[in-house]
Amino acid sequence: MSETPTNASTSKVIRNDPWFGSYAARAEAMRASEIRALFAVASRPEVVSLAGGMPYLDYMPFAELSELIAKMMVDKGDVAWQYGSAQGDPHLREDVLQIMELEGINDVQPDDVVITNGSQNALDLITRIMCDPGDVVLAEAPNYVGALGVFQSFQVDVVNVQLDKDGLIPESFENAIVEQRALGKRVKFLYTVPNFHNPAGVTLSVERRPRILEIARRHHVLIVEDNPYGLLGFDGQTYPALRSMDAENVVYLSSFSKIIAPGMRIAWMVAPPGIRHKLVLANEASILCPSNMSQFTITTYLDNFDWRRQINDYRGMYKGRCEAMDSALREYLPYCSWNKPRGGFYIWLKIPEGLDSRAMLPRAITAKVAYVAGTGFYTNGEGSDHMRLSFCYPKPERIQEGIRRLASVIDAERQTAELFGTSGASDPHPHDSEVPGPQVI
Ligand SMILES: Cc1ncc(COP(=O)(O)O)c(C=O)c1O
Repeated sequence: MSETPTNASTSKVIRNDPWFGSYAARAEAMRASEIRALFAVASRPEVVSLAGGMPYLDYMPFAELSELIAKMMVDKGDVAWQYGSAQGDPHLREDVLQIMELEGINDVQPDDVVITNGSQNALDLITRIMCDPGDVVLAEAPNYVGALGVFQSFQVDVVNVQLDKDGLIPESFENAIVEQRALGKRVKFLYTVPNFHNPAGVTLSVERRPRILEIARRHHVLIVEDNPYGLLGFDGQTYPALRSMDAENVVYLSSFSKIIAPGMRIAWMVAPPGIRHKLVLANEASILCPSNMSQFTITTYLDNFDWRRQINDYRGMYKGRCEAMDSALREYLPYCSWNKPRGGFYIWLKIPEGLDSRAMLPRAITAKVAYVAGTGFYTNGEGSDHMRLSFCYPKPERIQEGIRRLASVIDAERQTAELFGTSGASDPHPHDSEVPGPQVI
């Protein structure tokens, strides 16, 4: 990858850092952002970004909401601006019950819920209380990069479990448990995104769900079910949450980020009592308490607006954008392969043999289109034959134009590969020691 100004400044910081050599081993495992390195260029208006997982917020009723928030501040500003409970605001913990009911979870009490600063904070808390360095977390491959970042920062060994078009493969899950235990490893949990997976776009089939739970129970392995996209099925379809079938072996995570908006940084977890108790203690140690102001803003929204209708509007919009991407791919890149998702934000595109999505990225940026290279979704260097394309943020016409530009880059790379046997980059990952892996949402 050619050096961007951001990479150059990263190298300079590393060279001049007087504390180099003093950091904890866990900080060594922390990774700089590959996409952030390209972000300054990728976020210029002339670049079509198919990279980020940012929800499209133009449908939010901001004007009406701001009046209600102003009133809330007058009525209870002294509480909103005060410290709160480490477990989260009781009113919000009550409100999230109705959201979970939409996916079949109807046995939860407010006391079972812990509010967090986004699901990213929830992933940090569950890993913090469960994992010591060297412990194993089983995770789908490819995997959500934000989760990989957390696991790496706790020096956890991430072991891949295979996915196919019906989601996590139960046999692969069971084999991984058996193999890791035979090696003497402590398998702490399975991390899974069952619905509209980030980045793979696939959904765990209803038939596989009880099988995954049965394997987890039989081997006494906890499941961490991360479900930010479950209500974004394009046809309004929902799938029974794993948590709805098993209250004892599942820690459930969901978030307002994709179904409403991410800026308040509010999400929630549901866990069995012993784990929940530790999560609250860990939340207290980490952040004291989630922001009252953010939580009250979310409850103000939930209590005064038809959020079900709003989620429905989002679904329709994302469905249109997914259709636009799918048809542009069929028109411009018919020789690539992908699974058309039934919800969520992402298409996981397989590019022709011999091409390297990471090496190609600067050339795509030059052609004014951005994506996330597949290598970011693995810890073992795999994924260069894939890229993640997000259809959530750009409008359909921009998506169409973005795919047209992407196709011009892939076509040129293919021709180079046919002539020289590789896609042209002599050293595709020259900055591995400095910028080893991406962090993207
Ligand atoms: C699978 C998955 N989990 C968690 C998150 C983090 O969400 P939050 O904004 O709630 O921290 C994301 C964000 O993209 C995600 O895709």
